[in-house]
This record gives sequence, C-alpha cells and structure tokens, in this order.
Amino acid sequence: MKAVQFSQYGGPEVLRVVDADEPHAGPGQVRIAVHAAGINPSDGMKLRSGRWRDRPIPLPSGIGVEGAGVVDEIGDGVTNVSRGDAVFGYGSNMMAQYAVLTHWARKPEGLPFDQAGGFPVVVETATRILAQVGVKRGQTLLVNGAAGGVGTAVIQFARYHGIIVIGTASAPKHDYLRGLGAIPTTYGPGLIDRVGELAPAGVNAALDLAGAGDIPMLIQLVGDPSRVLSIADFTAPQHGAQGSFAAQKNPQRALDEAARLYLAGVFRVPLEKTFPLEQTAQAYKLSAAGHVTGKLVITLATMSG
Ligand SMILES: NC(=O)c1ccc[n+]([C@@H]2O[C@H](COP(=O)([O-])OP(=O)(O)OC[C@H]3O[C@@H](n4cnc5c(N)ncnc54)[C@H](OP(=O)(O)O)[C@@H]3O)[C@@H](O)[C@H]2O)c1
Repeated sequence: MKAVQFSQYGGPEVLRVVDADEPHAGPGQVRIAVHAAGINPSDGMKLRSGRWRDRPIPLPSGIGVEGAGVVDEIGDGVTNVSRGDAVFGYGSNMMAQYAVLTHWARKPEGLPFDQAGGFPVVVETATRILAQVGVKRGQTLLVNGAAGGVGTAVIQFARYHGIIVIGTASAPKHDYLRGLGAIPTTYGPGLIDRVGELAPAGVNAALDLAGAGDIPMLIQLVGDPSRVLSIADFTAPQHGAQGSFAAQKNPQRALDEAARLYLAGVFRVPLEKTFPLEQTAQAYKLSAAGHVTGKLVITLATMSG
C-alpha cells in the first residue's frame, strides 16, 4: 500500500510517500480503508523532536492519529462493527491507504468522510477541557486561539451547553467565529480592555489554545488561576493555572457524542483545505505556520457522505 513515512526526524520535508506493508487489526482493533486523515500540530512536533511522551519514535515511522474510512478487517473480540461500515476514530499511521483504529464511532450518514477524519482529536480535546475547566450554563468563557481546530469544537460544544463564548483570532477570522456562535476579539496587547468591554461582569474561565505566553493575562482577566487552563503552554501550572496535555485513555464517549451532535445539527468542522496523500508534507507545512482555520485533512479515496 501507499503510506507516508519518515526515515529521519525534521520538518515536513522529510515526509515521503512509500510502498509499505499493510497493517492488520489486532485484538480489539479494526482496520479501515482510509478515506480521510486529519492533520494535527502535535504530529509535526513528534516529527521534529523524534520523541513522544519522553520515548524516542523508532524509524522509519508513519504519521497521523485520526481518520475516517470503511472497515475491512475486524480484530478478535470486536463485535460492534461489521466489514463495510463507515467509521471515524483514533489510530496510528493514518496517512496511508490502510490503517488500524483503536477507538471508533460509526460515521453518521451525510457526514462527509473528509470532515469525519478531522473529528477525533478536536472533539476529544474540547470535551475534556470544557469539563476540566468547569464552566457552567450562563457563564462566560474566554477562548484564546479560537479559530483553529480545537477552538472550532470548543466554541460549538460550549454554545450547545449554554455558555457565552468570547473567542480570540486575527480580525479576518471574526466572521468565522461569529458563525460558530462566539463573540470575537483580537488576541495580543490590550486584550484585557477589549474583553472588559465585551464582558463588563467579567469572564468565569479561560482556555488557552494558542500557547503564545498569555497565561498571566488570562489569569488577570479571570481572577482565579485555577479557572484558566492551557493545552499548549507547558508553563501554565507554574502560574497556578491548569494544564491538560494528554488525551483521555478512553475517548469513546467523546467520539459517540460528536456523532450525536453532528446528527442534531449542532456540530461540524469546517475544513480550510484538503490535500491528496502525495501532498501530506505541504499540509504539515501549512499547519506549522500556525494560522489554520478549522482543520486540514488528507483525502485518499472517492468520498461520499
Ligand atoms: N494538550 C492537548 O491535549 C492538545 C490537544 C490538541 C491540540 N493541542 C495543541 O493545542 C494547540 C491548538 O491546536 P489546534 O489543532 O487548534 O491548532 P490549529 O488548528 O493549528 O490552530 C491554529 C489557530 O491558532 C491561532 N493563533 C495563532 N497564533 C495565535 C496567537 N498568538 N494567539 C491566539 N491565537 C493564535 C490562529 O489564529 P489566527 O490565524 O487568527 O492567528 C489559528 O486559527 C496546538 O498547539 C496543539 O498542538 C493540544
């Protein structure tokens, strides 16, 4: 099969499309014919550092942790899915014609494969951090770095739960944030005054998705460091804020909830751009530039809803 791999650590330019052995579903797993696979900034970090969670990544290695496709092999003990079912979920080496999933949910009819391939990471992250920061219906949440993949999911889930969301992005993306239900403002110097005008009664919690050194400013805005949480700034705990830097061990509930909310018409993931497998390196270059709106996705097969 065709797969994207790297044989040395570095930037996206080290990624190559190669002929690779097909993977097979182990116990509790399924294999899919991949139709779409989502790009995540953390893939690029693993590629560059050669490490993940303090362990070296053996070479050669594939890339990508989320995708959508059609089940074509079922591992021992799996009873909730059949060959031919369309699913989306978490796996490994997803930028390939075939990949193995460890967690999945049935893709709702009408949800395009390319969008579904970008669901898992943003859905798991958004549901985890909204629960962890503890913001409630009627309260106001500030989301710093709101126009990317995770922000797109956070805004929609928060709005669904009756939370008022102020989101930061550069000015050209303010209509995008409004379309998701957030009140937009720009990030950077002066944020405290701008948010003060938008929320005179104050904000109850803040999520930092940007990792751009804004934790002290977010703490000043919220007034309570424990109601500030970052997924991208490892210094957050040093300021008394929360850090959430690892996915839940079992993301099944988040995947099922995403499918349910898509069907209810309250959740979608706009795609900035899709790329064919051969252009995976270009997709990671665009991701590394740090200004993606929604998600970037690699597409592999003729797709239908
Ligand atoms: N800890 C975890 O569990 C976890 C899980 C998922 C992701 N992450 C991390 O969280 C971060 C966000 O992930 P993502 O997938 O949403 O990334 P993404 O889609 O690449 O996010 C890009 C967005 O960041 C915004 N941005 C860039 N510079 C900014 C700044 N200085 N202040 C505010 N916003 C800024 C951009 O808006 P403009 O174009 O308007 O600048 C853009 O829309 C990444 O660092 C990722 O690695 C962590």
